[in-house]
Amino acid sequence: MTGSRTLGRTDVRVPPMGVGAMVWGDPTSMPRWNPARNAYGPTSSLADQRAALAVCLNAGVNMLDTAAMYGAGASERRVGELTVGVDVLVATKFPARFLAGAGSLPRTLEASLRRLRRESVDLYQVHYPVPWMSIPKVMDLMAEAVAAGKVRAVGVSNFSAKQMREAHAALARHGLPLASNQVQYSLLHRAPETNGVLEACRELGVTLIAYMPLASGALTGKYSSTNRPAGWRQYRAPFRSKDMPRLERVNAVQRQLAERYGRTPSQIALRWVLQQPDVLPIPGAKNARQATENVSALSFELTQSDLAALSAATD
Ligand SMILES: NC(=O)c1ccc[n+]([C@@H]2O[C@H](COP(=O)([O-])OP(=O)(O)OC[C@H]3O[C@@H](n4cnc5c(N)ncnc54)[C@H](OP(=O)(O)O)[C@@H]3O)[C@@H](O)[C@H]2O)c1
Repeated sequence: MTGSRTLGRTDVRVPPMGVGAMVWGDPTSMPRWNPARNAYGPTSSLADQRAALAVCLNAGVNMLDTAAMYGAGASERRVGELTVGVDVLVATKFPARFLAGAGSLPRTLEASLRRLRRESVDLYQVHYPVPWMSIPKVMDLMAEAVAAGKVRAVGVSNFSAKQMREAHAALARHGLPLASNQVQYSLLHRAPETNGVLEACRELGVTLIAYMPLASGALTGKYSSTNRPAGWRQYRAPFRSKDMPRLERVNAVQRQLAERYGRTPSQIALRWVLQQPDVLPIPGAKNARQATENVSALSFELTQSDLAALSAATD
């Protein structure tokens, strides 16, 4: 598709945007207190998620992001159900449980492949760094999975610049590139610009996959101090009372630009991420309407001065 590029220095070609499937899946199969079931309020239906995927595929957005942990496997199961025989790129993550060690990687990958109904995943990511999981050891196991043809590209998530470099060096010993680091990045969460992660990504040729590019829905402009979102997210940044002035400030700039371009605030927020070099956003979409709005962000561009005005609103 137009605008496709490789994922890091791998040969996996990816669209400029993916779709996040964290809150997809059958809620009745998710444990009662699982974040995928509770963080965003009511989960959308199978029909909604099927329609959202159809919209994305139509627009060339053929990369889905999930994780073994989301809904305790429910998200992967749903992605598998919706993508049988469909040409999509699937990114998932290890481990399945918070306290799991590196040694559980081979069996966790097998379980993910079964749920996803696939022989291999296009991108396998370490979900987050933890002190009890040695980075070189987990990268050795990732390299074995690549050699076995079960993984096409290896990525990490929530890794600092230092941890990324360690993963990059460990994979290089196997002749493999580190494809991506998936971190939170949006107009309201710009830490990668100052904590060295964006810089390390560019230096090492690693794609920065931006999760929560709509700041959990805050950058859609539909929430305010009098209209709070459903689910646990309402108790966290950027929805707490003390965060509201900043949110209202950036939403106001988004609305001005949205009006000028005949677009929506969500599309302005996604454009800001899309126009950061080597950054690939993966907005979540609960239904076809949200997916349509999000993928339509691919069809226009903001000027440098518009980007600067948005950045200034959250500097
Ligand atoms: N690696 C990690 O640690 C990590 C952590 C979090 C997420 N992720 C990944 O990143 C993906 C995206 O993050 P996210 O889903 O948490 O946050 P997000 O993409 O910032 O926000 C998604 C939510 O915003 C609302 N929304 C989306 N598009 C909309 C539109 N056009 N109009 C109105 N509302 C819209 C929907 O919720 P409402 O309609 O209910 O508002 C949707 O669930 C996840 O699916 C997951 O794959 C990774």
